[in-house]
Amino acid sequence: MSIQQIMVIGAGQMGSGIAQVCAMAGYNVILHDIKNEFVEKGIAHIQKNVNRQVEKGRMEEGEKEKILSRISPSVSLENASKADLVIEAVVENMEVKTQLFKMLDQFAPDHTILASNTSSLPITEIAAATDRPEKVIGMHFMNPVPVMKLVEIIRGLQTADDVYDTIEAVSKKLQKVPVEVNDFPGFISNRILMPMINEAIFAVYEGVATPEAVDEIMKLGMNHPMGPLTLADFIGLDTCLYIMETLHEGFGDDKYRPCPLLRKYVKAGWLGKKTGKGFYTYA
Ligand code: CAA
Ligand code: NAD
Repeated sequence: MSIQQIMVIGAGQMGSGIAQVCAMAGYNVILHDIKNEFVEKGIAHIQKNVNRQVEKGRMEEGEKEKILSRISPSVSLENASKADLVIEAVVENMEVKTQLFKMLDQFAPDHTILASNTSSLPITEIAAATDRPEKVIGMHFMNPVPVMKLVEIIRGLQTADDVYDTIEAVSKKLQKVPVEVNDFPGFISNRILMPMINEAIFAVYEGVATPEAVDEIMKLGMNHPMGPLTLADFIGLDTCLYIMETLHEGFGDDKYRPCPLLRKYVKAGWLGKKTGKGFYTYA
């Protein structure tokens, strides 16, 4: 199936990155959020990223303008009527996502593929909120989207083969490396990454070491580009907590219980880099 017009829902750190790489690959992109100011913030983030490419001599000014001209803002979900592919990147909450997919199912044409960038929530359950479960799929980008090569593609129980093939082809056109997985909580990426981050938080909670020491050990000892607590702040502590809750509930196994310190920080509104405070403080 030929994809021309992509709609990205949620202009936060993931949605803006996804819109950027889609526009850079030549797709027309509608970037949607609930408020104009959120869409503008997302577009400003993209402008900053492409400006840096021009400053570094990796992109012509004209190419930058072309990329930016392919992105149109939206606060009306009815714009889904123009999309061949919708990529959803809103908050990691099943109720919000299923409500959204129900509405997208009404507004989008029959041929439109509905993809979710969810970090951990079951694609099969999101798909069941629509009358087109065979056209619903997980398209899990990594943060920061313009830099990270992986797209984890998750097949829901009813995802059609031609839908998988289309998403695989789109991912390659975005210069990403697609990897196929089946639909189980946390898929592969967060089933493995998030328990490590949660364990690092337990180590701080139990007073074994400071956040700085935990991060230094994992960076210098294991060659991780970021320590797990810096990475948790970067991902967003709310997102980390939602993912742990999905693993805990989905597997029914206490080895996935979220650390109480993570819950406490999220309750305090310490969500990491995006709110200026998490395990570390950001200017
Ligand atoms: N947006 C766009 N580009 C960015 C960026 C951002 N937010 N952050 C960094 N970059 C770019 C920089 O511009 C730089 O590009 P150039 O080399 O072309 O100039 C490049 O990335 C390297 O950046 P820096 O030199 O500033 O810093 P670094 O070498 O420490 O790399 C990093 C930064 C790529 C983020 C690196 O620290 C890293 O790989 N961290 C781990 C990231 C990771 O694990 N991501 C997965 C998170 S889990 C996930 O996404 C799934 C989920 O569901 C939660
Ligand atoms: P974010 O908080 O930066 O952005 C979420 C955006 O969604 C906000 O701008 C918000 O206004 C918007 N939004 C919320 N409800 C909406 C609705 N009903 N309609 C339209 N827009 C709505 O979050 P993020 O980090 O970009 O995460 C978004 C999704 O991507 C989540 O499902 C998350 O699990 C997933 N994800 C996150 C990461 C990460 O590292 N942060 C990595 C991969 C996947």
